[in-house]
Amino acid sequence: MHLLFRIVAAAFLCLLLSGGLLLYRSDREARQAVQDAVDQISQRLELQLLKLSTGIGNSNPFPDFEFWQPQSAGTCVEFSPAGAGTPRQLCSNVDPFAPAPPWFERLYQVFFTPAVPVARALVYHRHNYGTLTLRPSARWQLAATWAQLRALMELSGVTVLSVCLLVVVSIRRALHPAGVIVAGLRAIQQGDLDQRLPIFRLHEWRNIAQAFNQLTAGQQRLLNERQALAVRLMGLQEEERAGLARELHDEFGQSLAAINALALAISQGAGSRCPDVAADAGRIRTISQHMLANIRDLLRRLRPAELDETGLESSLRSLIAGWRRQRQATTEFHLVIAGDCGGLPEAVSVALFRVTQECLTNVAKHASATRVAVELEVSASDVRLKIEDDGRAVEVPKSSGIGLLGMRERVTPLHGRMNLAIGQPHGLVVDVWLPLTADRGPTS
Ligand SMILES: Nc1ncnc2c1ncn2[C@@H]1O[C@H](COP(=O)(O)OP(=O)(O)OP(=O)(O)O)[C@@H](O)[C@H]1O
Ligand SMILES: [Mg+2]
Repeated sequence: MHLLFRIVAAAFLCLLLSGGLLLYRSDREARQAVQDAVDQISQRLELQLLKLSTGIGNSNPFPDFEFWQPQSAGTCVEFSPAGAGTPRQLCSNVDPFAPAPPWFERLYQVFFTPAVPVARALVYHRHNYGTLTLRPSARWQLAATWAQLRALMELSGVTVLSVCLLVVVSIRRALHPAGVIVAGLRAIQQGDLDQRLPIFRLHEWRNIAQAFNQLTAGQQRLLNERQALAVRLMGLQEEERAGLARELHDEFGQSLAAINALALAISQGAGSRCPDVAADAGRIRTISQHMLANIRDLLRRLRPAELDETGLESSLRSLIAGWRRQRQATTEFHLVIAGDCGGLPEAVSVALFRVTQECLTNVAKHASATRVAVELEVSASDVRLKIEDDGRAVEVPKSSGIGLLGMRERVTPLHGRMNLAIGQPHGLVVDVWLPLTADRGPTS
């Protein structure tokens, strides 16, 4: 629950409690007042009996209520003589308070019993003269309580509201930095490590802001180091692949070509004279041609020659053609290239090629797709690559292997973004965006 709401709720609870306390006290006071009035009247009546028995003064008939000045309007005092006499009663008719509203009367009567009559026997010299009853007015008691409650509520209401307002204003001001810190943390969560907090006036907030700024600066330094390392590692990887490809091409490729040529010579030389030798030489040729084809395929995967020679577009076309050959029975491959890939920096071309290569491998390994579409869109300021399959993926992969991780690590150092989503109705969509602008984009 919001802190300010809690403060206001607590203030109103206090107000409610003080109202309840007032009702309780006024009920007790009203009961006590009736008791006191009965005590007082019975003392006066006993005095009257004393005067009557001694014959001093008091010519009025007993009981004489003239002395009684009721404090509460509507209150009646009644004397019922013991035996056959007529009861005497005196009521006050003054009504000094505005009546309480009906809802208050109902609510009050749920918790309290207003106007409980008090009766007392009037005994003088062991003789019971009758019963004295004081009947307070419920209407008067409710009206008086209501008037007190209203006065209290008006005063306390204004006080509580003003205090709440002051507390709310000062707490809002004091807690303002908390909002700024939360916004900063959210920005960091979105990957904005340039985020820094201002220096707050309050010491405690200032300490938090300094710790936050140090943390983000540290994180940014680490990230930069990690990105630099990733770029270096990928550069080394590409270099190593190119070296391996060279070795394979120059050593194995040349040797296999030589074996092939020798086998041809043997098979021609043996001719019809030694048909067995000619047949074996023919088999050696078949094996060496098969090995040559495999090495060529391996070379293409290690470092597509076209990437260096004819550029990204033809490398992608040849990659897709390779997959088409392998999986023509099960999967359709589509490639759409918009814009000119010729002028792309080498780092961007290599990243786009490797991402496409890994995505297509993933489709073959995990997707069971019937259709894969690769779209590349090159503009003057950025490049967008989208690889979409209709495979079995129904949720974005939670765990990442080396493949997805490597893709991200190729994209991030180039200040790009990679996003994974689920296509309609299923299948994985990999979306890569790379900037080409001079300030943030990569250079070749
Ligand atoms: N096109 C896809 N369709 C369905 N699931 C996929 C697809 N691409 C990736 N995944 C899921 O994402 C996971 C991570 O892929 P990632 O390429 O990182 O690792 P991998 O392919 O399992 O192993 P490797 O490290 O060899 O690439 C996969 O294990 C797979 O479950
Ligand atoms: Mg993979």
